[in-house]
Amino acid sequence: MSSSQTASESPRQYQLFIDGKWVDAESGKTFTTPNPSTGETLAEVAEADKADVDKAVAAARRAFEGKWSKMSARDRGRLLYKLSQLIESKSSELAALETADNGKPIKESTYIDLPGVVENFEYFAGWATKIEGETIPVPGQMFNYTLREPLGVCGQIIPWNFPLLMAAWKLAPALAAGNTIVLKPAEQTPVTAMELGKLFQEAGFPDGVVNIVPGYGETAGAALASHPGIDKIAFTGSTEVGKIIARTAADNLTKVSLELGGKAPNIVFADADIEQAVSGAMMGIFFNQGQVCCAGSRLFLDERVKDEFLARFKERAEKVKVGDPMDAATQMGPQVSAEQLARVRGYVDIARGEGATVFTGGGSPELEGNFKNGYFFQPTVFSEVQNSMRVAQEEIFGPVASVITFKDEKDLIKQANDTIYGLSAGIWTKDITRAHRFAKEIKAGTVWINTFNMMNAASPFGGYKQSGYGREMGKHALELYTHVKSVWVDLSGKPIGWYGN
Ligand code: NAI
Ligand code: MG
Repeated sequence: MSSSQTASESPRQYQLFIDGKWVDAESGKTFTTPNPSTGETLAEVAEADKADVDKAVAAARRAFEGKWSKMSARDRGRLLYKLSQLIESKSSELAALETADNGKPIKESTYIDLPGVVENFEYFAGWATKIEGETIPVPGQMFNYTLREPLGVCGQIIPWNFPLLMAAWKLAPALAAGNTIVLKPAEQTPVTAMELGKLFQEAGFPDGVVNIVPGYGETAGAALASHPGIDKIAFTGSTEVGKIIARTAADNLTKVSLELGGKAPNIVFADADIEQAVSGAMMGIFFNQGQVCCAGSRLFLDERVKDEFLARFKERAEKVKVGDPMDAATQMGPQVSAEQLARVRGYVDIARGEGATVFTGGGSPELEGNFKNGYFFQPTVFSEVQNSMRVAQEEIFGPVASVITFKDEKDLIKQANDTIYGLSAGIWTKDITRAHRFAKEIKAGTVWINTFNMMNAASPFGGYKQSGYGREMGKHALELYTHVKSVWVDLSGKPIGWYGN
């Protein structure tokens, strides 16, 4: 299937998934989502708003109070495992839809996104039976233990950069812990989340355990975040909206976890293997069209290797195959939307205005046929950047690296930490002492040493500073979706005695 074929089919149709049923929006409204490689309509989707969110929250509450909380942990785990197998069996179809909706190369959706989705559901399926309390050695004739209980109804709002994978990161731990969900996918990429709804049904999850309400952020998203009937809101997206969510949630003191933006330093020391570091810089900023929260968007180069590194980096960047994302050989597809393309273009002007140099790229590539209307942008490198410039401080969220040079380690650490963000960082060096010193001194949730963008369902991911709070994946994700209850039991059989007997 090529994107042009996908686009020439009539648009796919999706309804909302509420209480185990497929329903239209109360308002009857729909919205369309384009294929970003051609701009043609891929799907027409029911548009949820407050009334639909109300219904979904009520359904999730009924499911939580009803069948779901009575189900054994083992059965919950088995359902999650079954779901992971269903997803695996439909991987190639889901990968093609992800690429059609988001624009990411089919190579990435096939070998990164879908396997990651399967892995996350599989990993958390195993956790369902391993969520345990503790016994605490308290003094006196007392027995004290803790229970780990689900929070209840969780609202989950996800972005468009890894649509199905972000759904998996949110849904899998929440369900393993026994919560019910109202999920709002991003308006740019609702398609695979709706397909996932079908698989939840097929796997046999009780009605209302997972509800999926596609719609816009300012309407459906805001209605969910401000809903008094939810116990928790989990969000991945921009730092700007993350702050709105946190403020909104404060009104009901709803629990919040946030995975927000980043401006990761990716650092090359003079002793690094330059070829390895160049490949890591490319993985850091060109993967997924640069639309990655942990992208290595600030490329710090040791002055002594700057020229050699940049010459090789430029040569490799110019060879990146940009085009039809359905082509297995394509390495970079379009940006997700016209808005994102405009935003990335805007930063080229900002860079020039600030005195940086557009070292390579900086515009849209010339493509043929239908792809002329796609939202493509070239792999781009800004050199002569100062860390204080906007292009070094603001998240561009495109295939754009800002190159900053440094003299020594002390100077480097200061600059690397001089950002509002703290999601991830990379370092390229053969000096093991320096690498671990850096891992300790950098304020970021993930550090990569001589690698980049490595992730696993078992390893925690999340931010320092304004990159958010809470850790997704790994056992730490369960903390986002459970209460700890402390239970005290008197073993003496005597009155308390404080007021005399
Ligand atoms: P966004 O933060 O507006 O959207 C993310 C999600 O939040 C979507 O589902 C959206 O519908 C929802 N949303 C938006 N406004 C909301 C509100 N007031 N209440 C509740 N939910 C709301 O991100 P957007 O506008 O798509 O992209 C803008 C920039 O955000 C990007 O250029 C990038 O810098 C950053 N971003 C970061 C992501 C990350 O993974 N950390 C993912 C997506 C965007
Ligand atoms: Mg927005």
